[in-house]
Amino acid sequence: MAGNWKMYKTPAETSTFFEKFRPLVAGSTHCEIVVSAPFTDLQTAVEAALSTRIQIGAQNLFWEKEGAFTGEISCPMIRSTGATHVLVGHSERRQYFGETDEAVLKKTLAALASDLTPIVCVGERLEQRESDDTELVLIEQFSKGIAGLEAKQFARIVIAYEPVWAIGTGKTATPEIAAEAHQMIRNEVQKRYGEDQAARMRILYGGSVKPENVKSLMAQPEIDGVLVGGASLDPVSFGSIVNY
Ligand code: 13P
Repeated sequence: MAGNWKMYKTPAETSTFFEKFRPLVAGSTHCEIVVSAPFTDLQTAVEAALSTRIQIGAQNLFWEKEGAFTGEISCPMIRSTGATHVLVGHSERRQYFGETDEAVLKKTLAALASDLTPIVCVGERLEQRESDDTELVLIEQFSKGIAGLEAKQFARIVIAYEPVWAIGTGKTATPEIAAEAHQMIRNEVQKRYGEDQAARMRILYGGSVKPENVKSLMAQPEIDGVLVGGASLDPVSFGSIVNY
């Protein structure tokens, strides 16, 4: 169960969040819990999550280790904060910052090389769904973005399916629509990496997940977890999503 805070919260707000969130998930041993925070909150979040099962992630990375890349943050830098996860290829990065599938592959490889778990995001835009291109888009994002990984590397990633039309819009994909897309992705995993890997693969659903709809989403065997934006900012609502 992963949260994506996007560009919200200062370090002080991060501390306040964890004070309330920690006790709510202290007994939640049924799942892994990840909070992906802004770079400037990582250290505070890691410290606040010490001796808990909560893991901390970043939301982006640059694939070089260091160098003249003004404004960028590398995987070793992320790792040095104690963060263990990183989002790669979120639709907002693709949409507003021109991130391509090729960049997604480079970033995924760099994350793995630094022992960070990449949560690689894929998903179609509204017009692509309406023109019946969902499967095509998912296959393309899969084949250009992640199918370049070796089997051993692939086994260490998590995929998040986030239909762009469901992000921040209050329009959740129905559990059936989400499960159908997860199945499309899993089919690609099976073709490229085999049946065992496809069965083991964790695919999270993201897009307007709330305490009210998480149960029906998680009831789909195809949905292994969720990636939560807005509702992860509030400790009580993210707590009740984790404990669905
Ligand atoms: P919302 O839950 O706010 O729709 O955001 C989803 C998302 O983008 C998570 O990465």
